[in-house]
Amino acid sequence: MQVLATIRLPGQAWQKLPDVELGPLDHRDYVDVLSVAGDVVDDAVLDRLPSLRLVASYGVGYDNIDVKACRARGVEVTNTPGVLDAATADLAFALLLATRRRLVEGDRHVRGGDWGTGWSQTPFLGREVTGSTLGIVGLGRIGGAMGRRARGFEMRVVYHQRTPETTGLISRERLALLRDGATLVNTARGGLVDEEALVQELVSGRISAGLDVFAHEPHVPHELFDLQNVVLTPHIASDTIETRAAMSRVVVDNILAFQRGVPLPNPVT
Ligand code: DGY
Repeated sequence: MQVLATIRLPGQAWQKLPDVELGPLDHRDYVDVLSVAGDVVDDAVLDRLPSLRLVASYGVGYDNIDVKACRARGVEVTNTPGVLDAATADLAFALLLATRRRLVEGDRHVRGGDWGTGWSQTPFLGREVTGSTLGIVGLGRIGGAMGRRARGFEMRVVYHQRTPETTGLISRERLALLRDGATLVNTARGGLVDEEALVQELVSGRISAGLDVFAHEPHVPHELFDLQNVVLTPHIASDTIETRAAMSRVVVDNILAFQRGVPLPNPVT
């Protein structure tokens, strides 16, 4: 079994893999298994890897992979569900707190030597998190983990179950339904939200946002850079030592299962 990996994944599990070649997705007619980390796998890539039988993706989302095209060629696809739920919910909650309590803004002021007027003049008046209402769009594993964290903050939780088509789900009209002063947090995919409409809402100052993902990564709308009502992170929700090692383990488990000819633990169906 020859494995091609676009990057070396972190953690110990990687060492269990025999015959791994690290490199870009160039033409190679001897590769059976591909380990990808956010790379696009489409017909053009599949054409360059004619003997490919498995794409093992490092991540739970697989919008970067044309699963239909893989299936049409008999190529199986696996992902890493479950192991990143806690880290992702933690970051979502961190963004919620950071945005509503203006943490990044305060940090910048202190580092800049600007203590301002002092606490009694409410220089960084924020919005309460405890006791507020949290709306979760998609009550799957990560949404559920977010809901459990919210309980600790005595929040009222309302939710919407995942719909099959999520692109543009948070449309201009739905954004307009958010009450003044509300906070939108996105740690899922940028394409879920009408980004142009979101930018307009944020520029107006009507709402705030904590954003880990963007519609056209690595592009981030430049209008956001000077806004104080936005906290931005570069798609790092699963980026902890523990979670990344666990994600690697899942990738390796899937590849080894493929090698042994036993059922794949995490097939994307
Ligand atoms: C995931 O696992 O889908 C993360 O967003 C990283 O791509």
